[in-house]
Amino acid sequence: MTDLAARPEDDDRAILDQWYPVAFLASLTASETRVRLLGYDLLVSGDDDGVAVRRADTAALLPARKVHACLWTTLGRPKGDVVEIAEAAEPDRRVVPCGAINVRTSGLRVVENFLDMAHFPFVHTNILGAEPITEVAPYRTEHRVDVDEIWATECRFEQPQAARSSVGGMTTDYAYRVASPFLTLLYKSCPNDPTRPDVICLFVRPVDQERSVAYPVMFLIDENSSQAELAQFQQRIFVQDRIILENQRPARLPLSPKAEIPTRADSVSVAYRRWLKAAGVRYGAIG
Ligand SMILES: [Fe+2]
Repeated sequence: MTDLAARPEDDDRAILDQWYPVAFLASLTASETRVRLLGYDLLVSGDDDGVAVRRADTAALLPARKVHACLWTTLGRPKGDVVEIAEAAEPDRRVVPCGAINVRTSGLRVVENFLDMAHFPFVHTNILGAEPITEVAPYRTEHRVDVDEIWATECRFEQPQAARSSVGGMTTDYAYRVASPFLTLLYKSCPNDPTRPDVICLFVRPVDQERSVAYPVMFLIDENSSQAELAQFQQRIFVQDRIILENQRPARLPLSPKAEIPTRADSVSVAYRRWLKAAGVRYGAIG
């Protein structure tokens, strides 16, 4: 039976007119796999001859793009193409898809958690943070109106093991970027190259309003670690996040300014919620 409440309303254009990841390219097969996106069942396939995304109910072909290690589609009419990530085109970058992660909560929660530095010492203990250094230093948050993205810059955190290739602790500089409601990435100091950041993306597929699949993809400068080592390092972190995320209530992200009491450390989260509300996003949200 079709659960219509699981789908966005027709006028929820901020959600419908976006690109979403539906699979890692490496996991595609010639036979069709059923994938749910925004409450719609899709059939996804791909081989050397090409890829296809169809609606399971009408068999209508949907647009498909192969980029950033993922297959992308849309149920609406996006204004532009899939998010551009300049670093992804650098020839010496390691592209590391980290394995799809099912999370039983709103994809908006997943994105918001990705933006949060305050949890590092408590959730990613001795990796991305450690007591007694628990305070989030002031950073800048902005809505870049020309590209309609939320950015947090000048973020820094003391990290015992900032990356797979880190030897000892380091002060890590971060910049966060939210390119669309379910699509975020961060740029962080790379232990192997002081001039270029590592890029870690979190592409989220909203299955329905309270279930999502996260596709982490990293674009790294690291000549030494194996692909499996790099993916495992990040998977371990996301599994720690999943435990926190699945315990947050309500599962849908509250967008009312009164819903949660922000602190200075949350300024990017506050900006994200305001931006979602201003865009009229209702899917996966309340208030
Ligand atoms: Fe985390």
